[in-house]
Order: sequence, then C-alpha cells, then structure tokens
Amino acid sequence: MTSPDPSPAPARSNPRPGGLQRLIYASRQNLPDGAPLDEVVSDIIRASIRNNREQSITGLLLVHGGWFVQALEGPAAAVQERFERIAGDPRHADPKVLEIEPASGRAFGDWNMCARTLSDADEALLDELEQRQAFSPDRLDARSALRLLKAVRDIQGRAGFG
Ligand SMILES: Cc1cc2nc3c(=O)[nH]c(=O)nc-3n(C[C@H](O)[C@H](O)[C@H](O)COP(=O)(O)O)c2cc1C
Repeated sequence: MTSPDPSPAPARSNPRPGGLQRLIYASRQNLPDGAPLDEVVSDIIRASIRNNREQSITGLLLVHGGWFVQALEGPAAAVQERFERIAGDPRHADPKVLEIEPASGRAFGDWNMCARTLSDADEALLDELEQRQAFSPDRLDARSALRLLKAVRDIQGRAGFG
C-alpha cells in the first residue's frame, strides 16, 4: 500500500470549534438601589461558580471604580453563550468586548470565577504597572486588559483565596 492512512492530527492545544477561547470585557456597574456592592458581587460569584463549573469556564472578575472587567475562558461556544447571558444582566451596562481570541492555555484556571475588589495596596501595584491611566475601560486595549487581569490574578494567588 503506497499511501498509508493519514496519521491522526497531532493533539492541538487549541482545536476548533470547541477550542479554548478567552473573552475579556469591561462594563459599568449598575447596582440596584441601595444594594451593597459586596453583596451584589457575592451573588454574582455564587451563580457564576455554579454555572461556569458545568461549562468548564474559568475566569476572573475585577471590581473597581464603578467598573467590572471580566475574563471568561473555556470552550469557545460555551464562553460565547455565557457572555451573551451575562451581557444582558441589568447589574451592569454597556459591556464592551476588549478581546475574544483563541487561547493556548488558561490564564485563570484556578477559579470557575473569582472576584477581586482592588484595595489601596492593589492600587499601588497598578501604579507600578503604570496601568492607572489604562485602567479606565474606555482606554483599556486587549493587551493591557489581559496584563491587568493577570496582575490581579497574581495578587489573588498570593492572598491564597480562590
Ligand atoms: C459583571 C457580571 C459578571 C457575571 N459573570 C458571570 C459568570 O461568569 N457566569 C455566570 O454564570 N453568570 C455570571 N453573571 C450572572 C449572570 O448574568 C446571570 O445572572 C446568571 O448566570 C444567572 O444564573 P442562574 O440562571 O443560575 O440564576 C455575571 C453577572 C455580572 C453582572
């Protein structure tokens, strides 16, 4: 036999269409009247962990200065479906997608979802990263958004809380 069966394609870390995808967006907080931010965020995280676990979605939610910045990563279809649902949530407004890209690995694989509200110390770290200017999600581009979230991930990792 001159033409052997084609060997199976090597396993790719990023096959399509079920391949790993990362989506990052920023939105403005829109809290129900009188609702404390930490309770709103706790409710979001409770639902997120439940739903995201089922869909193999991991990520991080940054809560700061009236904004949310969130990374969602997982199978492409699941991420897009979940984001559509999140985007319609009245607890925030004007979600703006900053990045939606195939990913070669998970950057936030430790958490089905984890929220971080920046403390003063965290803000000092943003200064070091020279990201304070960039923080305004109006100005945040894909690269700086991912850098920012990874910096927050590292702070969160050091705090030892998932
Ligand atoms: C900023 C923000 C981030 C959210 N992130 C997620 C998420 O990662 N996963 C999720 O399932 N729901 C998330 N939600 C909540 C969803 O919009 C929605 O309320 C929830 O998925 C409904 O879950 P349920 O049908 O189990 O009640 C988020 C909401 C907001 C406002």
